[in-house]
Amino acid sequence: MKRYLLLNGPNLNRLGQREPDVYGSETLTDIEQSLTELVESYGCKLASHQSNHEGKLIDWIHEAEGNYDGIIFNPGAYTHTSIALRDAISSVSVPVIEVHISNVYKRESFRHTSLLAPVCFGQVVGLGSKGYKLAALAFLQE
Ligand code: DQA
Repeated sequence: MKRYLLLNGPNLNRLGQREPDVYGSETLTDIEQSLTELVESYGCKLASHQSNHEGKLIDWIHEAEGNYDGIIFNPGAYTHTSIALRDAISSVSVPVIEVHISNVYKRESFRHTSLLAPVCFGQVVGLGSKGYKLAALAFLQE
């Protein structure tokens, strides 16, 4: 059975309350539940973690090697700053799809650069929480 990992980085535990005009009204729990349903409808499994700490995210990426078939990852602001997360993604053979709820390219210029995108399998940007599902479908319909 194929197994997928959903990772969310800093401040994404605040979804629902955090800038709802930018990120919508769904909570992370809502997103995790609907993604679990989608993945299970394909006979696959989903595990999910969120952390505000870079090192924890790095550990989960390392631990995914050999245990998961794909990672759906919203790295939050670490997208724009973290060479360490980029190196973690490069260090494993598990494909990673980077997801952003908001259209980062329409926002402040510091959000226009992703240090992670060049080492990711793909990127879904600006489609709201639906982006997580579209990323999952990219893996599930492979
Ligand atoms: C985000 C975009 C990032 O720039 C921001 O720092 C976030 C959320 C998104 O999902 O749109 O925390 O990753």
